[in-house]
Amino acid sequence: MLFECDQWKVERVSPVIAANSDAFLSVTPTHNTVMEEKQRETGTGSLVFAINGLRFEVSSVSPSTTLLEFLRAQTPFKSPKLGCGEGGCGACVVLLSKYDPVLDQVEDFTASSCLTLLCSVNGCSVTTSEGLGNSKDGFHPIHQRFSGFHASQCGFCTPGMCVSLFGALVKAEKNDQREPSPGFSKLTVVEAEKAISGNLCRCTGYRPIADACKSFGS
Ligand code: FES
Ligand code: FES
Repeated sequence: MLFECDQWKVERVSPVIAANSDAFLSVTPTHNTVMEEKQRETGTGSLVFAINGLRFEVSSVSPSTTLLEFLRAQTPFKSPKLGCGEGGCGACVVLLSKYDPVLDQVEDFTASSCLTLLCSVNGCSVTTSEGLGNSKDGFHPIHQRFSGFHASQCGFCTPGMCVSLFGALVKAEKNDQREPSPGFSKLTVVEAEKAISGNLCRCTGYRPIADACKSFGS
């Protein structure tokens, strides 16, 4: 147990993301299943979800609380930013992963956390840019490419861009139709460029950002 108070508690669960240069993503339904089982066991009616491998159990929260507000006020994961607050800039993008028991698979999708109510992420696993990689555990190749291509200046938009690109890579990797050349992802160059079409940058300029994204395309 890392932390506990009247409203919520935090404990560590197995990491959602195995992010390294060889594997862009490895998501397993295990912790979602575990969370749901525990929720049934305890019958607490609490919200239970994971953020970057940490299990959160929230027993009391205002229904209007957004995921972004919770992330920035109650967790150490401050990379999602409040830009427009209305789903238009992409600064707050996170990856949501949810186990679908009917299809027996994990569904992954990116979402604007400024428009996502905390109550709607029950049973989900949330991944922010820190969950992809960080200075302690090592940066993800996406971070490294953004740095290498000089695709970030003030950095305000960068975490959202990285997660948007990561989400596109995840989606592409699930496409069984494509067989990329060895060492390449299944993401096409066009898809890589479009991955950040919903993310705004006010200072870097889009050429180096697009180049960093396209470097993952095949
Ligand atoms: S803050 Fe702009 S999309 Fe969420
Ligand atoms: S790097 Fe400053 S807003 Fe994009």
